[in-house]
Amino acid sequence: MGKAIFGLIGVGGIAQSQHLPNLARAPHAFLKTACDLRGDLLAAMADKYAVPHRTTDHRQLLADPEIQAVVVATREDQQAPLAIECLTAGKHVYVEKPLAETVEACEAVVAAQQRAGKWVAVDFNRRFAPAYRRAAELAWSDGGPKNIHYRISDTYVRGWGRGCPPGVRVIHEVCHIFDLLRWLTRSEAASIYTVKSRDDDEITTLTFASGCVASITSSGYVTTDLPKERLELICDQGTVIVEEFVELRAFGFRGVEPVTRYAGHSHPDREYSHKPLFAKVGAEALYAMRRTAWELSVSLAEEPDALPDLAERQRFLQSGQMWNYMVDKGWLAALDHFAECVVAGRTPENATARDGLAASRLAHAAIQSRESGQVVRV
Ligand SMILES: NC(=O)c1ccc[n+]([C@@H]2O[C@H](COP(=O)([O-])OP(=O)(O)OC[C@H]3O[C@@H](n4cnc5c(N)ncnc54)[C@H](O)[C@@H]3O)[C@@H](O)[C@H]2O)c1
Repeated sequence: MGKAIFGLIGVGGIAQSQHLPNLARAPHAFLKTACDLRGDLLAAMADKYAVPHRTTDHRQLLADPEIQAVVVATREDQQAPLAIECLTAGKHVYVEKPLAETVEACEAVVAAQQRAGKWVAVDFNRRFAPAYRRAAELAWSDGGPKNIHYRISDTYVRGWGRGCPPGVRVIHEVCHIFDLLRWLTRSEAASIYTVKSRDDDEITTLTFASGCVASITSSGYVTTDLPKERLELICDQGTVIVEEFVELRAFGFRGVEPVTRYAGHSHPDREYSHKPLFAKVGAEALYAMRRTAWELSVSLAEEPDALPDLAERQRFLQSGQMWNYMVDKGWLAALDHFAECVVAGRTPENATARDGLAASRLAHAAIQSRESGQVVRV
């Protein structure tokens, strides 16, 4: 089978951690042209990943009839207009989450997708995380999820969310979990209720048409010591718990291994040893690595002059395992599945523009609930 020919718009953070290395190694994808407004960065990335063509004007990329699909990884406010341009130019689109910051912009992408008859995949990559696919399989062998708890927590308020207005973490990050819950329950949300203790530290509860209830704990305040995500699924009788994508524990399932461990995700530039460690030791290895990195960063911040091995500590942290990208959240599998479907002319299983719209509606309903203090019917 051949490879789908891709263009990429945006070679910033997520492209460097995922799309560039993943397009370079995905069996069904070939990256022909990269585009970014920042010429120097574009040249560096295109050289590094041997991308044959580069342009600072996305219209040049779209004018190339050989390009079949475009990955759009710019920023939250620009992804919808660019996705619409790609569709209008006759390209399939693989667009970063959130599809857009407003419901109206998501609706415009859905309309453009219908007009163009091309596929839109939103990068809700968790649908392709191996641990979550197994969790869904187990859940549906036991009547489907009835009660779900999800925690998603990170250093957002001090990290990448610092530049965002207070309270929008639910649009930028929790959108992933709204999509995941719809996918896990095979159902639409019926109601949503959100309360906060402070901005970007909140609990959302949802009811689903399937009868499942779910709660999401979202916090942007924790340290990197804490694993970022945890899923708990109570089914008819059995329960499945997944810790940070590396360890699945099954309770009450006859004939099912109680613990399954998943190797993590690698980046060609970074150290690899976490993968066999996760496969062998699971969550304990992840806890130890996160703890070590956190302690090292605290020591560097608080007492650098007292450290005899300061340079080694700095080198370790800079050589940087990126904690968020060490576990397999499904990025490569999601992209390669899309590419394979483009080659085969088969409808992909990725989240669609409609799924992006549904997640956006839930995020805005959560904000409405938080502000009104009322349950919102959706
Ligand atoms: N799926 C995931 O796990 C995941 C993880 C991180 C970020 N994201 C999402 O990815 C998106 C990008 O985030 P990021 O951190 O990479 O942003 P970034 O700012 O680091 O990179 C965006 C890049 O796009 C370029 N760009 C912007 N407009 C452009 C245009 N019109 N033409 C060409 N280039 C243009 C910028 O110059 C920049 O280099 C965001 O929507 C974010 O929420 C997804």
